[in-house]
Amino acid sequence: MARNGHHHCDVPLEQARILYGRRRGRPLRPGRRELIDTLLPRFSIVLPDQGALDPATLFPDSPAETWLEIGFGSGEHLVAQAGRYQKTGFLGCEPFINGVASLLAKIQHEGLANIRIFPDDGRILLDCLAEASLGRVFILFPDPWPKKRHAKRRLVSSRTIDAIARAMKDDAELRLASDDHDYIRWMLERLCRHEAFQWLAQGCSHWWQRTPDWPGTRYETKALRAGRRCIYLRFRRLPRLTAT
Ligand SMILES: C[S@@+](CC[C@H](N)C(=O)[O-])C[C@H]1O[C@@H](n2cnc3c(N)ncnc32)[C@H](O)[C@@H]1O
Repeated sequence: MARNGHHHCDVPLEQARILYGRRRGRPLRPGRRELIDTLLPRFSIVLPDQGALDPATLFPDSPAETWLEIGFGSGEHLVAQAGRYQKTGFLGCEPFINGVASLLAKIQHEGLANIRIFPDDGRILLDCLAEASLGRVFILFPDPWPKKRHAKRRLVSSRTIDAIARAMKDDAELRLASDDHDYIRWMLERLCRHEAFQWLAQGCSHWWQRTPDWPGTRYETKALRAGRRCIYLRFRRLPRLTAT
């Protein structure tokens, strides 16, 4: 249960849940190591021993809105959004420690106070968040796992989509992007048949472009440079049916 050393949430983790991908890359430079040792404890999210986590309580001024990015990579998108919406609280998940260190360097450089970090599997955090607590969720360029036999490793699964639907508020927005068109099809298949989500595309020309309030990411830049086209998806979390 305590795979991340501080997992005390009362929602049981599926046995089958395995984190694919790297946790570590090149050894951290001393400056980055120091950020992990000194700054990460200040910004990292500790899950409650019991009950659900209300993300607003992670910030001193209890923001009205909290947004979540799963797999922030080096944090370009998260930092750009947090700079733009300073009254919103941001949660970022990333198990790759070199990415976490890059995000910390950016937070320090920009002097941002509205980001909290979960340096682990975003699905663990999702399951612990209070129902209807997120105003936006971003999953940008998740590892594509293009081989058919690896498809089950994909982060966006029916299980993850259910967990996102639960944690999102009514009318909240889910944003996804990928340069792997097979993965896009996979996401659309699962989201379009999900009762909680409505695709916000107005014609397919829309999915070739990010909206102006959607900053780019490092992975995206690499994909575009390599000549791959990227697709951007936005979904609305439909209002919950009220009991009669
Ligand atoms: C291809 S990279 C994209 C990074 C960034 N979003 C970008 O666009 O530059 C995918 C990232 O997702 C992270 N990741 C994979 N599984 C994850 C999980 N279960 N929870 C959170 N992050 C995850 C990986 O560590 C990796 O940094």
